[in-house]
Amino acid sequence: MPNDRQYKITTRFIGTRNVHEYRQTIPTWVEADDVVLEIGCEWGTTTTLIAPHCREVLGTDISADCIERARREHPELEFDVLDAFDARAALDFGRDFTKLHIDMSGLSGYRSLLDCISLLTMYATVLRPEAIVVKSASLKHFASLCIPWREGHADDPRRGRR
Ligand SMILES: C[S@@+](CC[C@H](N)C(=O)[O-])C[C@H]1O[C@@H](n2cnc3c(N)ncnc32)[C@H](O)[C@@H]1O
Repeated sequence: MPNDRQYKITTRFIGTRNVHEYRQTIPTWVEADDVVLEIGCEWGTTTTLIAPHCREVLGTDISADCIERARREHPELEFDVLDAFDARAALDFGRDFTKLHIDMSGLSGYRSLLDCISLLTMYATVLRPEAIVVKSASLKHFASLCIPWREGHADDPRRGRR
């Protein structure tokens, strides 16, 4: 029996398959008042696409070389080094991030599905953003197979099966 008083995350997770879908989410999920943290920004291409849709965006990457190039190519935007698995360092930015975009190498395959879920849960718990968009083909596929059971709703278990 689940404990109804246990802490439950409220963040929504949006799984995308590739960089095209990752960027496609921006007009739908990023709003004018948002403070956005992008993790895995590389040279800042997606950061530049997010910027016109929100109040603030911070592009971050584990690679200092990528951050140096992003700063050089987009001096009007803010970039910093961050290892995605260091949530404490993300907290130390001292911002109330309302949305996260995560596009880190290695998160797409099925072997990294648990790492991906752990990362999302960690950020949902520590930063409590409204939504996290993540580029992970395996997470998107896994989520498409999940059906939350609801009594009285006749969900056909074979729906979508081949
Ligand atoms: C596919 S690129 C990101 C492309 C970028 N989001 C865009 O849309 O142009 C993946 C990036 O993840 C970064 N990365 C890998 N591991 C990371 C980690 N632990 N924390 C933060 N960034 C990481 C890499 O340095 C690389 O720049």
